[in-house]
Amino acid sequence: MRIAVLRERRPGERRVALLPELLPRLLQAGVEVAVEPDVGAEVGVPDDAYAAAGAYVGDDAMEGADLVLSVQPINLATARALAEGTVTVSFLPPTQEMPLVRRLRERRLTAFSMDLIPRIARAQTMDALSSQSMVAGYRAAVVAAERLPRFFPLFMTAAGTVRPATVLVLGAGVAGLQAIATTRRLGADVSAYDVRKSSAEEVASLGARFVDLGLPPLEGEGGYAREMTEERSTRQRELLTPHIAASDVLITTAAVPGRTAPLLVTPEMIVGMRPGSVVVDLVADQGGNVAGSVPGQELSTGGVLIWGGQNVPSQLPVPASQLYAQNVLNLILLLVRDGRLHLDFDDEILAASCLTHDGEVRHRHTQDLIGEVG
Ligand code: NAI
Repeated sequence: MRIAVLRERRPGERRVALLPELLPRLLQAGVEVAVEPDVGAEVGVPDDAYAAAGAYVGDDAMEGADLVLSVQPINLATARALAEGTVTVSFLPPTQEMPLVRRLRERRLTAFSMDLIPRIARAQTMDALSSQSMVAGYRAAVVAAERLPRFFPLFMTAAGTVRPATVLVLGAGVAGLQAIATTRRLGADVSAYDVRKSSAEEVASLGARFVDLGLPPLEGEGGYAREMTEERSTRQRELLTPHIAASDVLITTAAVPGRTAPLLVTPEMIVGMRPGSVVVDLVADQGGNVAGSVPGQELSTGGVLIWGGQNVPSQLPVPASQLYAQNVLNLILLLVRDGRLHLDFDDEILAASCLTHDGEVRHRHTQDLIGEVG
């Protein structure tokens, strides 16, 4: 069995799906590995390091591969080039990739999506959404600290006392909690809000204050947030306004699985912030929590800087690749038995994360969508 690791095709993607240090584990499992040249260039890993670890390096790495590994979904041309029955493993959010899903089905490719790994205890080592969110949360904190024209910590010096920066984090999931932990470590005065009940305790455990708006929690399936009604959304914005006005830094990370991110911050709420304040909208590329944030851009409005996130984990490609590679390796080890591909759809992790197989869309929600749009 042969695995090919692709050089990422999408502009701006700096991560790599496999690192040389993980090769021994694959070779041990009886798998050959081929990588495209420069696959690790953006994370400072030369082709020689892959070759030294036992990989074949060549432009033809994909030829004859049984399994193709990447971070971003393969493109339509790659899907056309792969032989029927080839397995692909990558991020692949189905709702955003419908033309590719159709092509995968038509080409009878078997696609596993890292976006669909179930959040169960046994699959934690494969949970790439969490590992990449953790990287994004850290990056949000560092961006804010760098852009803010103030210190984060309290300083008491002979020349006087400098107050700490105040940080408000909206959305205390994996990314939000990491943003809280990092801004706390930098010494800021941090508070946070989330609609889930359990988040108050999680926020407090990191030494931050939970902002209690006195609204009922909104919890849906699997401990995720539910979408808000328009009425609740308006009320939440009203109640958050004074907290936002009092913050030097606002970091937003709120998301609802399968939907566009909820709008939490209006232009009027930004107007209330002090000039020099910084807003980091980590989910700008999923619709945005902040009105006017633009993915990949920094804009200034009334002296407030709004930083819009775009593929944020890729901005720290080294740890993001290390963690992603470990996540995909753990999934691959489930797909290999005695050096051969073995697709056991009785395994709930494989059943849940397989999007297409043998000319069919296996993921129920995507089947429904394809049915609707044809
Ligand atoms: P996410 O990226 O979907 O959302 C981020 C956060 O935004 C969530 O905490 C959500 O509650 C919050 N949010 C949504 N709408 C909001 C609104 N209107 N106002 C304020 N906040 C809002 O979520 P993420 O980070 O992927 O994980 C969320 C949950 O999943 C957490 O409970 C987490 O502990 C759990 N989880 C479980 C794992 C497992 O293996 N069992 C692994 C990772 C996360």
